[in-house]
Amino acid sequence: MTVLTKPEVIDTIDELRNSLCLAKQNAAARGGDAHVVLVPTMGALHAGHRELVRRAVAVGDIVVVSVFVNPLQFGVNEDLDTYPRTLDADVAALAEEGAAFVFAPHAQEMYPDGASSTRLTAGAVGGLYEGAARPGHFDGMLTVVAKLLNIVEPDIAVFGQKDAQQVFLVERMVADLNLRVRIEVVPTVREDNGLARSSRNRNLDEPARTAARSLFVGLTAAAAAAHSGVPAAIVAAHAVIGAAPLVKLDYLVVVHPHTFLPVDDDYRGQARMLVAAVVGSTRLIDNISLDIP
Ligand code: PAF
Repeated sequence: MTVLTKPEVIDTIDELRNSLCLAKQNAAARGGDAHVVLVPTMGALHAGHRELVRRAVAVGDIVVVSVFVNPLQFGVNEDLDTYPRTLDADVAALAEEGAAFVFAPHAQEMYPDGASSTRLTAGAVGGLYEGAARPGHFDGMLTVVAKLLNIVEPDIAVFGQKDAQQVFLVERMVADLNLRVRIEVVPTVREDNGLARSSRNRNLDEPARTAARSLFVGLTAAAAAAHSGVPAAIVAAHAVIGAAPLVKLDYLVVVHPHTFLPVDDDYRGQARMLVAAVVGSTRLIDNISLDIP
């Protein structure tokens, strides 16, 4: 029989800092390592999050998972109020994965003045792609990630490749602000039909779920066509995604891995194709690495 150790659920910053201090002292007293790993989440955990936590457990010693639906990264017409909140189920899943702490603060704890008056800016790239569709989203995301990094002071923080623009912006923030943390990026976890795991997938009805598969099929077709160049990759993805019912394409773009800006048609080398579409009434994103010889 597997014995699960329930993670300690903490909702205040002071208590988390004290508990982490104690956990590190205990580890030192036992002669063990005490590398702290943070997995920032907004809860409603699924197999993709579990994979992030598994990586955290593999690379560190004390795993902290934050569960906080960050109001700062939602626009006025977005789904902040209806975003799924499933803390009990999340804690049960995290017990299975071996997290030591769940940090689940209320908005008041993170933003005592209602909204943080100091905000980070994600710059020009933060206004492209997801940032164009969701103005201010990445400023809010970076602000809360910076706060979490300052609160937890982890050695490592783990993010999912599914949110490729988020990963790019977090890595750039860490470099720009000389933050002492290593960012680990975990490959996208997919459902059996290829659909990238996302908390929003639970909003898809059966026809939309079937249609949503076209994003992954289109990206895979692009990766297969990439040997013929950027335009061929884009045409291949469009052919699949454009033909799918219920799918309203927002953007499909090939970006440079170091600048995240669109590449020219004659670009050669590593690149990433990003896609976003509204499927039924649910906005989905996905991406794939392209090798353009
Ligand atoms: O990817 C997410 O779930 C969120 O953007 C994050 C990183 C937890 C910040 O709120």
